[in-house]
Amino acid sequence: MRPYLVAGNWKMNTDSKSGAALAGALVAGWGAGQAGVEMAVCPPFPYLTAISQGVKGSAISVGAQNCWHEVPGAFTGEIGTEMLADLGCKYVILGHSERRHILGETDELIAKKVHKALGSGLKVILCVGELLAEREGNQTEAVLDQQMSGSLKGVAPEAFKDIVIAYEPVWAIGTGKTATPDQAEGAHLYLRNWVSKRYNSQIAEKLQILYGGSVKPDNAAELMKQPNVDGALVGGASLKAEQFLPIAQAAAACFKG
Ligand code: PGA
Repeated sequence: MRPYLVAGNWKMNTDSKSGAALAGALVAGWGAGQAGVEMAVCPPFPYLTAISQGVKGSAISVGAQNCWHEVPGAFTGEIGTEMLADLGCKYVILGHSERRHILGETDELIAKKVHKALGSGLKVILCVGELLAEREGNQTEAVLDQQMSGSLKGVAPEAFKDIVIAYEPVWAIGTGKTATPDQAEGAHLYLRNWVSKRYNSQIAEKLQILYGGSVKPDNAAELMKQPNVDGALVGGASLKAEQFLPIAQAAAACFKG
């Protein structure tokens, strides 16, 4: 069975005090962790150092929410993958829908970031997902195909050990509307088959595919029980330890079966 990953995407939230308190509560609550589940937190850039130190020695990993795809140099305001690795980040989230749709990131740019992050030894959580109009227009699979092809362009089979896919239907992010377990499972199966066809079945079988979009303690178990859902990328509910911890516990219960 694939292990679960439950990652918290703090987005542009928290400050030094609240972030430290949240990390402290997670360390206290998650302790040495649970079999078959990895917990990760992805704080805003300014707090990466403090949060990395705060969770040091615990079973909690740290990730960033974005990166730039060039080597250090004249890129005012950007953050290099070397810096993220230096800070002890294990993961970087790329292609999040807020970056695609608010910041205008294209698959071409995301692919550059994917290559650069992998080259720096980071693991990539690549987000893909359709808009409501695309789902209603029966275009979900076409959109996923386009995002996967574009964002993973030129990625070698060996690199897949460092890639996690997050299926995040845009209409479910921060809206309180969660995909049904069947909708999530359908998209996850499509994505796994996509990798199997483009790469091979062993790579596809090992690949972790997370669901993201209004995951809460009360819907986490039914989503993660689906055979192709290997964890969650959690936004809003990751900002409260009393909500994020039960989601990770739900993953542990699913792993035990
Ligand atoms: P949400 O965000 O859990 O607040 O819907 C998920 C995400 O954007 O990763």
